[in-house]
Amino acid sequence: MNKPTTPPSKQSAGIAPPKGRLGVLIPGMGAVATTLIAGVNLIAKGHGRPIGSLTQMQKIQIGNGGTPRYVAIKDLVHLAEPGDLVFGGWDITPENAYQTACNAGVLGHDMLSNVRRELEAIAPWRGVFDQAYVRNLKGTHVKTGASKMDLAKALMDDIKKFLADNDLERAVMLWCGSTEVYSEPGPVHQTLESFEQGLRDSAPEIAPSMIYAYASLMCGIPYANGAPNLSVEIPALIDLANRKGIAVGGRDFKTGQTMMKTVVAPGLQARMLGLEGWYSTNIIGNKDGEVLDDSGSFKAKEVSKGRVLDSILQPDLYPELYGDYHHKVRIDYYPPRGDAKEGWDNIDIQGWLGQSMQIKVNFLCRDSILAAPIALDLILFMDLAQRAGLSGIQEWLSFYYKAPTMPDSQEPQHDLFVQHLMLTNMLRALAEEEALDQSDLGENVEKLIVR
Ligand SMILES: NC(=O)c1ccc[n+]([C@@H]2O[C@H](COP(=O)([O-])OP(=O)(O)OC[C@H]3O[C@@H](n4cnc5c(N)ncnc54)[C@H](O)[C@@H]3O)[C@@H](O)[C@H]2O)c1
Repeated sequence: MNKPTTPPSKQSAGIAPPKGRLGVLIPGMGAVATTLIAGVNLIAKGHGRPIGSLTQMQKIQIGNGGTPRYVAIKDLVHLAEPGDLVFGGWDITPENAYQTACNAGVLGHDMLSNVRRELEAIAPWRGVFDQAYVRNLKGTHVKTGASKMDLAKALMDDIKKFLADNDLERAVMLWCGSTEVYSEPGPVHQTLESFEQGLRDSAPEIAPSMIYAYASLMCGIPYANGAPNLSVEIPALIDLANRKGIAVGGRDFKTGQTMMKTVVAPGLQARMLGLEGWYSTNIIGNKDGEVLDDSGSFKAKEVSKGRVLDSILQPDLYPELYGDYHHKVRIDYYPPRGDAKEGWDNIDIQGWLGQSMQIKVNFLCRDSILAAPIALDLILFMDLAQRAGLSGIQEWLSFYYKAPTMPDSQEPQHDLFVQHLMLTNMLRALAEEEALDQSDLGENVEKLIVR
């Protein structure tokens, strides 16, 4: 039964309200970025609804027990308005956002023509690029500098100019660039001192995305990573974020197949159904698919997608159900499909007396259509976190990521519903409302508790 919706009683006490417009800095003005920007402009003109965005559409329960209220997230906490976002960004090719959106083919020309002027006004600045990190792309619109530190300073100059030109006091940076090759933190990534020396020496272990993250943090701007590669998630940059009191988070937007996986797996585990194997395959034909066709970039995605099942199923606790399952993830680049990714999951499960059963999931999704509302929510929530003084890693935003970055080597949560509770309980805390615990336990449990 639907519960009554009542207006909010208060708004995020003690948090600086969003003053003025909010800058959005995007390295990688590709399909996700332009679908986000086109969408924000289309919605402002009444040409669509922000479906998939919690900040714009979700109402959450406030109060435990008898008569909870349902309050829209945007009424519970002070968020920037989507209409107050000002976009700027970098790319390694020079097309403006309108040309890129047309090439990406996510939204049709009939929709894009309504926001053509706004998109044409956004031309990317030259990017910081190194083909060793994205082997299937060539950069034609890139910065040059004597060292990686010089490139970082050039990014900081872009940021300062963007803030000054648009009279902005706040901004958020969101990495929407191509997936860089898989890497692990090495000695140069351990301390801020070694990292800055590495920038001056142009250490090959420093990826372009790390240079953007460094520039963002040095300018006091929160940074979130939408791709699976290592970027801000290195000790040196986490330390910088903590020292300067800046919010950071990542990584890899949780959009299609992994989102479904983190919905289905908790259900299997809750019902104590065993798992023999989970085979996931995708076809995708956009530029992201082309980049992932390279083994180095694919490895970053494979690792990011691979960790979710163990964390949800807890094989240590249930070795007889989940101790020996086979998990395989494939992504095949198939140009005719464009951004309309198709994912197939074959799940071999076991029931009563070890009898085998199968579940098939065929998700005909639209990659950037799923990613754009996540990008919008992350921008608005990272800005909220910064205004609320929440610095360092924002694990309460794990809901949005395939491989959530966690503070102090804590294990990430992957179950979508647990992640949702983490997120909404943080919002309740920011609004000085009670955390949600076991609501609606049922009459008999409540009788027992009373006894
Ligand atoms: N679309 C989704 O559902 C989804 C889900 C999870 C993660 N992601 C990740 O988000 C990122 C963006 O996805 P997309 O579909 O928009 O890809 P895309 O290929 O359309 O866009 C990426 C853009 O980044 C640019 N780029 C690459 N290296 C750069 C650099 N160093 N500096 C500046 N620009 C650079 C490319 O030229 C390209 O325009 C990818 O890493 C992808 O893996 C996307």
